[in-house]
Amino acid sequence: MDKLTIAIDGPSGSGKSTVGKAIARRLDYLHIDSGAVYRAIGRKAIDTGTPLEDAASVARLARESEIKLIGDPDHLKIWLDGRDVTDAIRLPDASHASSVVATIPEVREAVVEKLREMARAGGVVMDGRDIGTKVFPDAQVKLFLDASLDVRARRRFEEERERGRDVSVEGIRAELEERDQRDRERAATPLVKASDAVLIDTSDMPLDRVIGHVLEIVRTRS
Ligand code: DC
Repeated sequence: MDKLTIAIDGPSGSGKSTVGKAIARRLDYLHIDSGAVYRAIGRKAIDTGTPLEDAASVARLARESEIKLIGDPDHLKIWLDGRDVTDAIRLPDASHASSVVATIPEVREAVVEKLREMARAGGVVMDGRDIGTKVFPDAQVKLFLDASLDVRARRRFEEERERGRDVSVEGIRAELEERDQRDRERAATPLVKASDAVLIDTSDMPLDRVIGHVLEIVRTRS
């Protein structure tokens, strides 16, 4: 079976990361969480005191950063300039900063280049917002996962609680809504479904059914 490129796009909490991980495991592919790269840049901007609205400085920072995704899909570690930032990029301030820096066109150009380099060997599942539209417009499999805002907020709430964070569903819902709006309305490659992507609404679908459905789609394209 030829090694494919599988692009999974969708908003936060749509299940793309969980599904991407599961598919990569089943196919023995590399899983690349592109959001982690934007998060690492957001983290670095905060930690270095770089104002998020200073586009030129943030873009320089993006170009000069060494970001590595290391390990298998279930134990992926994110390294930024030789430092393990796996947990630090999931903090609320990094979530916010990632979606702000992702609006800067020069940052996106630098990230797209890094992502293509990471996927050079082929046999990859990449999830994000612009994978099917910009990073890999020729991907053999393109999926767009979506779910209602309430379902997505509830999923994020459960994840955060498992990490031991004291959060409320309402707070998470508001944060998701704000980030969604920024991701969908930015001028530079906003979150949109590629015209040839398969739309999967995961609101009422158990995870194993979503994964089964995706594997079936992959089989028809191999
Ligand atoms: O998937 P995530 O929540 O970890 O992504 C963090 C932010 O990065 C998200 O708000 C938008 C941005 N992002 C993007 O613009 N393009 C991508 N391919 C992936 C993420």
